[in-house]
Amino acid sequence: MRVQKHFDIQHHNTFRVSAHVRYFVEAEKEEDVPSAIEMAEHLGYPIMVLGGGSNMLICSDLNRVVIHPNLQGIKEHHYGTEVIVEVGAGVNWHQLVRYTVERGYGGLENLALIPGTVGASPVQNIGAYGVELKDVFVDLIGFHRDHGRMVMDAGACRFAYRDSVFKGDFKDAFVVCSVRLRLQKQAKLNLSYDALQREIQKRRHEPKSPAELADLVAEIRGSKLPDPELIGNAGSFFKNPILSAGQYNALKAEFPDMPGFPTASEQVKSSAAWLIEQCGWKGARRGDAGVYDKHALVLVNHGRASGADLWSLATEIRQSVFERFNIMIEPEVNVLRDA
Ligand code: EPU
Repeated sequence: MRVQKHFDIQHHNTFRVSAHVRYFVEAEKEEDVPSAIEMAEHLGYPIMVLGGGSNMLICSDLNRVVIHPNLQGIKEHHYGTEVIVEVGAGVNWHQLVRYTVERGYGGLENLALIPGTVGASPVQNIGAYGVELKDVFVDLIGFHRDHGRMVMDAGACRFAYRDSVFKGDFKDAFVVCSVRLRLQKQAKLNLSYDALQREIQKRRHEPKSPAELADLVAEIRGSKLPDPELIGNAGSFFKNPILSAGQYNALKAEFPDMPGFPTASEQVKSSAAWLIEQCGWKGARRGDAGVYDKHALVLVNHGRASGADLWSLATEIRQSVFERFNIMIEPEVNVLRDA
């Protein structure tokens, strides 16, 4: 385990904002995690877990012991037509997707090119193109600050749209070490998502294997979402708002183009990108903090924006959406600030 003091995490968050943390601890094996937690208790600082830093906005220096799980390795267990993969928290998510589709295993292809690490994937129940992590999730192993080592199945993780217990009761108290996912050797491809259908019709070619579908998803993502290696961003900055049927219908009468997708309950999921675009924000800038010009849901750091600059832009956007549509959109990224 490697410990660094007063460490700048600029290269450990995809917004590329500079911020110093009290201690930065790299955990290379499972036993390092309880040691890091013990160290934080001893020093009297709260812990925070930082994987790829691809879903957070850091608005100040942090008085915390930051644990960076760097546990590697992918193990396969075969049961008839199923494969259970057991994956270290530090494995890059897209590398895992590539590993599985190259072997013909189905399940992760719609989740190609999502930035971040495997350990972070359950935290916000990552999802894209009609699939969510919870659809393939078996269980995970990790350490809780107060309860020690725990094995948690999907029920215990309380997965919901971009949400889980790790964003709620277990926030800043739990470190994921490894995750087990259930994949299929005879893949059934999920091509139902609108944007996928449109692209398939345009090309007049339907993907036939997980690898082909992963390539298509990666192409669509690449054309709409900025590459964090080139421009600082954290993917979707806001969650899509979930409205009651009543509120949605009233708005739809006033704004006939407003998108709406039915959810399992009686509610309707609308599009935060659409709301933001209607308020004129697409491509807008406040200094180096901006709204991406190809997708209104993505905030970008054009260079030297601080976390506070980006948050102040986000606040302006939320206010203007609220004034126009009476909807308060909520951030999807974790916004962090210590006094
Ligand atoms: N739209 C606009 N303006 C835009 C972009 C989109 O009006 O600039 C509208 C369109 O009507 C479009 C609708 O928004 O039909 C939905 O757009 P899109 O398919 O791009 O998906 P999204 O709802 O904006 C969600 C996820 C993405 C995920 C895509 C694809 C959330 C918060 N975001 O975005 O996830 O890749 O669907 O499944 O649910 C992420 O979480 O970081 C992320 C990128």
